[in-house]
Amino acid sequence: METKIYHQEDIKQAARVIKQGGLVSFPTETVYGLGADATNSEAVKKVYAAKGRPSDNPLIVHVASKEMVVQYVSGISDKSNQLMETFWPGPLTLILPLSEEANLSISMTDQLETAAFRMPNNDLTLSLIRESNLPLVGPSANTSGKPSPTTATHVFNDLNGKIEAILDDGECEVGIESTVIDMSQLDKPTILRPGAITKEEIEKIIGEVFIDTHLVDDKQAPKSPGMKYKHYSPDADVIIVDGSINDWKHAINYYKSQQKKVAILSSQAIYDELDDYSVFTHYILSENKDVKSAMHHLFSGLRQLDTDLLGYNGVILAEGYDETSENMGYMNRLKKAANQTFFRK
Ligand code: TXA
Ligand code: MG
Repeated sequence: METKIYHQEDIKQAARVIKQGGLVSFPTETVYGLGADATNSEAVKKVYAAKGRPSDNPLIVHVASKEMVVQYVSGISDKSNQLMETFWPGPLTLILPLSEEANLSISMTDQLETAAFRMPNNDLTLSLIRESNLPLVGPSANTSGKPSPTTATHVFNDLNGKIEAILDDGECEVGIESTVIDMSQLDKPTILRPGAITKEEIEKIIGEVFIDTHLVDDKQAPKSPGMKYKHYSPDADVIIVDGSINDWKHAINYYKSQQKKVAILSSQAIYDELDDYSVFTHYILSENKDVKSAMHHLFSGLRQLDTDLLGYNGVILAEGYDETSENMGYMNRLKKAANQTFFRK
């Protein structure tokens, strides 16, 4: 099949594809999603097939209003209500208890008792949902295991020929996927996946929030099935450098001595200090240390450097941040891309 590129004027056509059980990648403020009718199990099967996604990993349901959620859940607690009022549309996904009659197709294996809901902050996608009048499943629109797509071109590179269309709305602003919070146990709101909305921001609205233990201890199994898979990985090895400029210099010398082509993924400030050290290629994440900019550019940078290193024995040295709550989303994705590997002299 030929994958079409749609723009704002093609929303009606995109909605028709969705209603007929086809796949349309849609833009959001976080990353591009792979959209299908969440009430059509045949369409949802095609999503798993196109991505090569493990069948036990459930999908997020994208809605255009809180009212759309109400028809599928057994109830919305005051705290969940407050979170939706405060953060929707926006990069926060809520896990809620499903009602018994909910006719959603969000997993290829178990009959789930919960589902993840999110209202994305993107006008084109909100009109696509309204026009089709359907909730949309929307995993990130990448081949499973690869960095999530933050431009229509990334989606095209991964899924050309496998999906009907891509709704192009330029670059995603945030750059990493939404914060996922489990609200299905009333007394224990728990963050399963960190994102741009931090624990502190959520606590300001609903009080104490927990963090899934796997996010602080590598040996624990994650509660969110998707968090256990290898992820965000370019083909080249990724190594995190989080020390002084001397550590960067040691790392470059070390990998060059191993006959590797070195790629640098860092702020301009770090890169400028390395100007005597010729490296094979580089990608700038931010001017100075700036986690918002680094998040925005991370997946693009990993994809670009991987392309540059294609056919070479390459290594990507990537800038680490302190693991504060604000930096947790960035570091979570980077550590997965790096398979938890840090450079240590
Ligand atoms: O920003 C985002 O959330 C993007 C955009 C496209 O909206 N979507 C996204 O979807 O990241 P995906 O499928 O790549 O990640 C969904 C995550 C996975 O880790 C999955 O295991 C988890 O949410 N999840 C979904 N339903 C769940 C449930 N009922 N219980 C626990 N975890 C769930
Ligand atoms: Mg994903």
